[in-house]
Amino acid sequence: MAKLLASAVALGTAFISAAAWFDARRKTQKPTVECHPTEFNNRVLAACPSLNLPYQPVMFMTNPHVETIFAAKTRTKPAVRYQREILHTSDGGCVALDWQWEPESDKALPADAPVLVLLPGLTGGSGDSYVSHAVVAARAAGMRAVVFNSRGTADSPVITPQFYSASFTGDTRAVVAHVARRYPASRALLAAGWSLGANILLRYLGEEGAATPLRAAVSMCNPFNLTISNQGLKSGFSRIYDLNLATSLRNIFMKHELLWTGMPPPFRPDDVAAGRCPTIRDFDDAITIHSFGWPSVDAYYAGSSSALSVPHLPVPTLCIQALDDPIAPKEATPFEALRAQPLATTVTTLTGGHLGWVEARTGATGAPWTNAVMFEWLSAVVEELGRSGSGGKGGKQQEERQQDDVARQLVSEEEEVAGVVARVGA
Ligand SMILES: *[C@@H]1O[C@H](CO)[C@@H](O)[C@H](O)[C@H]1NC(C)=O
Repeated sequence: MAKLLASAVALGTAFISAAAWFDARRKTQKPTVECHPTEFNNRVLAACPSLNLPYQPVMFMTNPHVETIFAAKTRTKPAVRYQREILHTSDGGCVALDWQWEPESDKALPADAPVLVLLPGLTGGSGDSYVSHAVVAARAAGMRAVVFNSRGTADSPVITPQFYSASFTGDTRAVVAHVARRYPASRALLAAGWSLGANILLRYLGEEGAATPLRAAVSMCNPFNLTISNQGLKSGFSRIYDLNLATSLRNIFMKHELLWTGMPPPFRPDDVAAGRCPTIRDFDDAITIHSFGWPSVDAYYAGSSSALSVPHLPVPTLCIQALDDPIAPKEATPFEALRAQPLATTVTTLTGGHLGWVEARTGATGAPWTNAVMFEWLSAVVEELGRSGSGGKGGKQQEERQQDDVARQLVSEEEEVAGVVARVGA
């Protein structure tokens, strides 16, 4: 009897494994790459071998939920030593920047090394495995990496009753300006964001336009249309992600709960504390929309979607999306707008889940596949910008931009002085 059972189990396991193997084989395909066939893009893509190889899902990772959860739970976390820098913002709050620690003596990067600002996903931070992998890969590519932790994430301090939102770009603007000041000799300032971080990054780029000191950007698993992607979280298995992320939001909130004591309606901090906000939408309804002046959650999602920013992107931008992403679904990806944007390069893979991209070449628990693509592309873009003279310092556009910046600064200083004079006068 026991023998029979053992044979049945063995047979069943063999059958399931065979099915998973065949499915992984069937879904092994080259990623789809779309961009305008400019000389710049052609040269950059020629320097991205990963985009010319088939994307090979690991066995069992062809199910998006299995892949998303497997990656979140089992991905290795390379040891990265950070040095934290606290940046004070003009509203009285602060942001924690985690720089990869650089030993003074050996292996220090040159002053002109590109600097890469990393924006993690909702509630994520410098301690997350996909972020650490990117930091390690940045160093290997000769880039200086800094993680911009949204307020409260990665145990960063919160000193005012305000977190962040999908379209609050004030902190991003302050961080980018600060990084530019700290490394004035850098050949190129770059940024890459995942999920909500990608949404915020594209919003910032769309608003800032040509004034941004960033030279290129990477967006990964971007929810793009927040109305559609939030709607997706309400159905089926995806509810699990919604509840999990809302729990993380609540945990961050509870650490700083006392800052919200006595916040008048429409803020509803007590609802969060009492566990009455089980979903992201509930949390946004109780806290986020009031911090940022939105009349409703629907208005907030509609007005904060980075799909709106795609036509206004000012620099080469790589957008990588998995077509089976359960949190940033393909229905929310503005493919038409991306195709119409000459600066965008869109890469899609058949599988990948959300923040998954568990691929055969890096192994089941290694770096996400996107790391290889992101650093090949960024390195090639920096090279090309250097060649065309529009990227690094000394480039004509950059010089003009710097002159603009100086002029703007002078104007704002003049305004400040005028303001002080006016106040003193009054
Ligand atoms: C998001 O999707 C909704 C529903 O399809 C649509 O009405 C809206 O225009 C989209 N928003 C953006 C910014 O594309």
